[in-house]
Amino acid sequence: MEHWELRTENCSMARKQNIAQLRCMGCGSIEPTPTADLRCTKCRELLEAVYPTWQKRGSQQPNPVALKNLWHQRRMSLDALDQSGVWRFRELLPILSDIKHAVTLAEGNTPLYKLQQSARQSGVEQLYVKHLGMNPTGSFKDTGMTTVISKARELGVKWVACASTGNTSSSMAAYAARAGLRCLVLVPQDKISVGKLSQTLEYGAVVCQLPTDFDECLKILSEVVQQAPVYLVNSANPYRLEGQKTAAVEMLEQLGWKVPDHVIVPGGNLGNSSAIGKALLELHELGFISTLPKVSIIQAEGSRALVRTMQETKGESLVSVKAETLATAIRIGSPVSWRKAVNVLRSTGGACEYVSEQEIAAAKAQLGAEGIGCEPASAVTLAGLYNLCRQGFVNPSETVVMMLTGHVLKDADYVIRFHSGQLLPGYSEAMKSFCNPPIQADANPKSVIEVLERFTNEPARALA
Ligand code: F0G
Repeated sequence: MEHWELRTENCSMARKQNIAQLRCMGCGSIEPTPTADLRCTKCRELLEAVYPTWQKRGSQQPNPVALKNLWHQRRMSLDALDQSGVWRFRELLPILSDIKHAVTLAEGNTPLYKLQQSARQSGVEQLYVKHLGMNPTGSFKDTGMTTVISKARELGVKWVACASTGNTSSSMAAYAARAGLRCLVLVPQDKISVGKLSQTLEYGAVVCQLPTDFDECLKILSEVVQQAPVYLVNSANPYRLEGQKTAAVEMLEQLGWKVPDHVIVPGGNLGNSSAIGKALLELHELGFISTLPKVSIIQAEGSRALVRTMQETKGESLVSVKAETLATAIRIGSPVSWRKAVNVLRSTGGACEYVSEQEIAAAKAQLGAEGIGCEPASAVTLAGLYNLCRQGFVNPSETVVMMLTGHVLKDADYVIRFHSGQLLPGYSEAMKSFCNPPIQADANPKSVIEVLERFTNEPARALA
């Protein structure tokens, strides 16, 4: 297999065109030729995209008033890039030398819903969810995959690859198929949902199921990319995060650029929280917004590497854990973007919390009962909100946006097991109150009417 050079833009050209340069998180140097696992050649830290002309005030800096108008106008446009909820904001993510390389599935453009029942229950009146599960492949990954696959096409790579708990792989496979690229997936065997595996296969990825966990899959892939010409598109790849920034931009646009007090994000490999934090900090720096929301990150109890990192080392060194949770999307014990996430917590003043399996299941069903389906990893946000309210970190008068990251059908098995009373050995009162098991009725109208009458007199559908 032939190797290509992972050269990014040369410095003077990048400055002239304002194309992204990659800067090391550790030593701060600009890295024109990152390693194949996309780290700094000097200190092996992760890289982040920076834009040379944004650093100095002047005519090349994005103009907030003009751009807010332009982005709004593009919503009327018939151009495929303007119809993408990522490329519509392309001035904030100039990563391509030539925009003709962009590969889009009309990603982004996801709804912001105001909650009512959950608002009453939590006491937070201004409570919203930004539903990123409404993306083309059913998860937020599409907003980052459109940018990284476009960059891969521009770089002229033939193969792209990722390790995944299922959503990244589904998304990568779809975008690679659109771009005409081959793709390799490493997944932990029997630890990803059937729905996600099906999507990944359908879009034509070469799928290797390894008898290990996600963290080990990613470690193995980091070695594979150094030995074979495949381009890593996990969230260690900074071009992914540039696309994922747009969830925050779109959220602000949907709120009429009124900045919420809190944004709550689930935490797994910590790319998404890093991207959302990066967007808000850039928008603040560039004058699009004058205040910053607190970005809080919520993890599942059995996969709380960042929580422990903050508690035990104050964010100085990663505390890895052996990950376990039924929210398989975030079954991650050694998150790659932990340092970026720590920076986001520090610079926005957000909290980092964990929630139990029971709390996740109840929160997910509560959202479902309000007509908002999501996958378990997304529901950690609502479960986390209750904790943050109890602690007084979130005040009932504040505005809160929770990021829902995946579609309810991503893990149908979890949903059925929950409602059939088989998800966990014990059900909390909150879980019981949302349980809605299917009812066995005889195949005649009389039997169905009996069911109807029973439920008319007894509306609650709790487990017996
Ligand atoms: N929510 C969902 C639905 C996810 O699929 C993931 C991550 C996360 C939250 C966490 O986001 O990793 O950026 O902190 N899924 C990855 C995957 C790891 O392979 O699909 P993160």
